[in-house]
Amino acid sequence: MDVLKKIEQLKKQKNAVIFAHFYCPGEVQEIADYVGDSYFLAKKAKEIDEKTVVFCGVNFMGESVKILNPEKKVLMPDLTADCAMAHMADVKKIEKMREEYPDLAVVCYINSSAELKRASDVCVTSSNALKIVSRLENKNIFFIPDGNLGRFVKEKVKDKNVILNDGCCPVHAKIEGEQLLKMKEAHPDALVLTHPECREEIVKNSDFIGSTADIIKFAKESSAKEFIICTEEGVFYPMQRDNPDKKFYFVTDDFICKDMKLNTLDKILHVLTTEENEVFVDEELAKAAMKPLDKMLELAK
Ligand code: 13P
Ligand code: SF4
Repeated sequence: MDVLKKIEQLKKQKNAVIFAHFYCPGEVQEIADYVGDSYFLAKKAKEIDEKTVVFCGVNFMGESVKILNPEKKVLMPDLTADCAMAHMADVKKIEKMREEYPDLAVVCYINSSAELKRASDVCVTSSNALKIVSRLENKNIFFIPDGNLGRFVKEKVKDKNVILNDGCCPVHAKIEGEQLLKMKEAHPDALVLTHPECREEIVKNSDFIGSTADIIKFAKESSAKEFIICTEEGVFYPMQRDNPDKKFYFVTDDFICKDMKLNTLDKILHVLTTEENEVFVDEELAKAAMKPLDKMLELAK
């Protein structure tokens, strides 16, 4: 029996579902029951009846699903798949900032460890950050860990004092303005679709800025025929499938999150068979980290 058939059989036998982020390899997106951006996947896990979730993504994603659904078994094909940015903030610095600004709201991008979430007031994702920050009553906002998404929010939500942290996504932040300008010269009719984790020089020269799901949706609904994409190459799979007559150019051949690519069909089969690689979060830590995640789900409605 081939891998795909075995996966299907085990899913039924074990009452399991497969979640995948858009940066996973195409063949993993193909067999997943739910594919989406970070917000969709975090929300979806609360709506399903199945008791086992095989989460194809990076650590903070599987961890968030476990924190929000402690009764579920969350398995990850590769437990070493981590997001470098998830660790780029400091709990001591957060405490210092709270002393300095008594009304401070610590807004934590979901791409963060459970320890950083515990120290925060509310989580956000790239698809709801603007909405959530503008709905907060606090004037002073410390946005962690992503300085680029923080800057994007600061520029859009003018009535807040958004204080930035210096973390970033190494995959998105390495793209330079020069590379985009060259691409634009080569494809003058193309629209530029960008993830807000990119640097300012990229965001400023873009036609649309949004989460992975927003970028995919924009490409589908737009009457334009050509697009320059400034995010990880995994989004090409749904964009090409849904728009065979449109052209997509990536600003670099190397727009790859290596950790996301650790999710493979063989590893999915392995965890479904053995139930190894279960995600565990310390009970006290999970309880505290659930609060900012729950607040996100409430404020994003
Ligand atoms: P999205 O929430 O847009 O899917 O982004 C997650 C991510 O890790 C981007 O690098
Ligand atoms: Fe983290 Fe960047 Fe990979 Fe997204 S692309 S998971 S932010 S390292």
